[in-house]
Amino acid sequence: MADVRLEAVTKQFAALSVIKGVDLTVDDGEFCVFVGPSGCGKSTLLRMIAGLEDISSGALSIGGKDMTKVGPSERGVAMVFQSYALYPHMSVRDNIGFGLKMTGHAKALIDERTQKAAKMLQLDALLERKPGQLSGGQRQRVAIGRAIVREPDVFLFDEPLSNLDAALRVQMRTELTKLHQELKATMIYVTHDQVEAMTMADKIVVLSAGKIEQVGSPLELYHRPKNLFVAGFIGSPKMNLLPVTVAPADNGKLAVTLPGGGVLHLDARGKTVKPGKMTLGVRPEHLDATGKGDLVLPLPVTLAEYLGSETLFFVTLTDGCDIAVKADGLAKARPGETLSVGVPAAACHLFDEAGLAVINGDLR
Ligand SMILES: Nc1ncnc2c1ncn2[C@@H]1O[C@H](COP(=O)(O)OP(=O)(O)O)[C@@H](O)[C@H]1O
Ligand SMILES: [Mg+2]
Repeated sequence: MADVRLEAVTKQFAALSVIKGVDLTVDDGEFCVFVGPSGCGKSTLLRMIAGLEDISSGALSIGGKDMTKVGPSERGVAMVFQSYALYPHMSVRDNIGFGLKMTGHAKALIDERTQKAAKMLQLDALLERKPGQLSGGQRQRVAIGRAIVREPDVFLFDEPLSNLDAALRVQMRTELTKLHQELKATMIYVTHDQVEAMTMADKIVVLSAGKIEQVGSPLELYHRPKNLFVAGFIGSPKMNLLPVTVAPADNGKLAVTLPGGGVLHLDARGKTVKPGKMTLGVRPEHLDATGKGDLVLPLPVTLAEYLGSETLFFVTLTDGCDIAVKADGLAKARPGETLSVGVPAAACHLFDEAGLAVINGDLR
């Protein structure tokens, strides 16, 4: 059991600066997810924690011990890769136990831990098979088993589910969450998929271009994004972001003028807001397709996706400015028809010209 602390950690590959000063604490026993677009430095940061990449500057400690310059095998971590990296000629049993064998552990201990891990991962019946005789999901489980038997303080996962099909990904997601509850180990999990981050994490770290944008629980990030990047990255379908003009209103509120001229009165929620050009953010699921809200706009439907459980409407606010509205699956509007879209003021966010949130929604 161990916490992981990063202090002002950076990474340069020659002239390329990839990690630009990361400060972070992952608590003992926490399931922490690093999420961000491809190329933002998630794998590099994880590999630096694992000891597979040097830390250019800054410090890393695990369980209170300075690990900045300690070799990977001495850190008490085990990593699971996206490419399972199994030995094709070895059985599942030997693949799982291989690391322990290499570090000179006794056969009885290897057998016992392998058996236990195999049971946990429902691999008990497959122990004599070779990786080639397994499905993708089963192979990924073997890779996880190999990490479990080492009984690490910290598990590091780099996009372990990315090679699986959608249904299996959902299943493995819940299994990994259960595994975390069972092992109670610290886990750091890298993904580019915000749904994985939302469903699995105690703590999400949103990364962009080698920097942390925000750290928080899934619902904190959803309800109180600090900036446009996080607002646009967390949530599916994406938050609608509209260019607006903000001016003081007579009633002490803010008059927010939307493209097309609709005016929404927003409570400043105790914040001082400078009048001028801003970005209004409102999530598709918070807009109302039955015309209830603080501002109601009749808007033409350009596209509708009928998903059964819900319908997603794309409506045109002005030329070049479409917004998404998530509605009940029984909503019947068709493209070309007009939808009465209600905007609830309490669900709206305002971002300044630098992209920082000035006001977050007030739903929670
Ligand atoms: N060994 C390396 N040498 C040079 N550049 C690298 C190396 N590894 C990664 N990079 C670069 O660092 C950036 C971050 O990569 P990576 O951590 O793999 O991103 P992510 O996992 O978020 O997709 C990318 O621009 C990548 O090209
Ligand atoms: Mg990566």
